[in-house]
Amino acid sequence: MSKMVINGERVAAQDGRTLDVLSPVDGEVFETLPRGQAADVDLAVRAARDALGGEWGRLSALERGRLLLRLGEKVLAHHEELSRIESRDTGKPISTARADITVLARYFEFYGGAADKVHGQTIPFQQNYSVQLVREPLGVTAHIIPWNYPAQMFGRSVAPALAMGNAAVVKPAEDACLSILRVAELALEVGFPPGALNIVTGLGEEAGAALSRHPGINFITFTGSNEVGVLIQQAAAVNAVKCVLELGGKSAHIVFDDARAELAIPAIVKGIVHNTGQTCTAGSRLLVQKGIYPRFMEALAQEFSKVRAGTPDMDLTCGPVVNRAQFERVNRYIAKGLADGMKVVAEGRIADGVPSGGYFVKPTLFSAASHDSDLFTQEIFGPVLVSVPFEDEAEAIRLANATDYGLLGAVWTENGGRQQRVARGIQCGQVYINGFGAGGGVELPFGGVKKSGHGREKGFIALEEMSTTKTIIQYYGA
Ligand code: NAI
Ligand code: MG
Repeated sequence: MSKMVINGERVAAQDGRTLDVLSPVDGEVFETLPRGQAADVDLAVRAARDALGGEWGRLSALERGRLLLRLGEKVLAHHEELSRIESRDTGKPISTARADITVLARYFEFYGGAADKVHGQTIPFQQNYSVQLVREPLGVTAHIIPWNYPAQMFGRSVAPALAMGNAAVVKPAEDACLSILRVAELALEVGFPPGALNIVTGLGEEAGAALSRHPGINFITFTGSNEVGVLIQQAAAVNAVKCVLELGGKSAHIVFDDARAELAIPAIVKGIVHNTGQTCTAGSRLLVQKGIYPRFMEALAQEFSKVRAGTPDMDLTCGPVVNRAQFERVNRYIAKGLADGMKVVAEGRIADGVPSGGYFVKPTLFSAASHDSDLFTQEIFGPVLVSVPFEDEAEAIRLANATDYGLLGAVWTENGGRQQRVARGIQCGQVYINGFGAGGGVELPFGGVKKSGHGREKGFIALEEMSTTKTIIQYYGA
């Protein structure tokens, strides 16, 4: 059985209860996890608080940074082991898992290097006054992590928090805890003091809800569904703590008639099938200018029909989706598209020989979606791409903005003025021009607008989100 990590120790839930871990590849149980409850969360929050008042809180920024750098190196030293754990737990093709673990290490490298480079300010004020603006940690930070990129999201959320001197309590998703638990053990091995980083496993509505409501936390980061995002924000309101929410997206590619199709097509396919479409930043809508629509869709269909789903070891483009609920959700959307009369222009294939109990879905490309259909406006979170033609720039921007979400966008055109106008016209947190890098870019500020959430992660901006300022005003005259 796997163990949680609380106060530097590997522990079971206090009441001894466990959860089964099912393989997405065949639906069989292969591991058990502690089913943490409010009492376990409470222990972890206290351990974090004690760490802030103890050894962890006394470390300098340089020393914290060095610990993070060491953890990054340790992750690389265990790269294959962690990749295997991640791939087994989530069903990711092994290459995808390897790429994720590389990014995990990169988060510790980036924020380890940044820890001692966050400076305060002095502010000119009245005569004989000195005013300093100093950065301070928030305190105990709570991190509720989703299952789609567990290792990466753990790094994205926890590395800047630790760099700024917070103590973290992490609740991974019940479907994807194993790589995070292993990294927390590695953190102890490289010398993180007890309580600086705690992991409580369990169900969202139990351990997750208990953590978000705990009066001892000072901040919450959450990535996941809109429904739970609302609950997190309500819990944060009760304790008057800040939260950063990343609640998914329905990001659009906008392809103009002068776009370089040979660049756009592979990026569009990868942008929706990578990680089996379970990516908040997936390019899940495709808007193509009318004049090239038939020709472009034909070329795209050719590329899309090469997509294959298989087991992690087959290492094809897609794996299974993470669990039965997700399997049913994606298939429900595909069925809805068909029932609504939408046309399938290409399908990928599920490889021969995959286990029958696995959660494999057929990658599907739909054309001519109606603008208000569920498939066009809702997050599916699977390898399903919907496309529509558009007339001109104004219509493209209007359609791109015609969902509640606002996470990413992409514009494909050689026209410089149009690149800039469209990039500025799309309501979202990140826009690519002639490229698409869903999820990539540890250095690049990232987050949403509208119902995709608020707050920013990645880059230096995360260090600001995960700290606060104090203004010290000193009179030194007469
Ligand atoms: P979810 O929002 O329920 O799960 C995300 C995390 O929140 C998990 O760690 C879960 O344990 C935790 N959680 C669940 N209920 C909670 C509660 N009451 N209080 C505190 N924490 C709680 O997402 P779910 O149900 O697994 O997936 C449903 C849909 O959400 C997906 O199909 C997808 O559309 C979206 N989603 C988006 C993600 C993103 O990257 N933006 C990631 C995961 C899901
Ligand atoms: Mg849920």
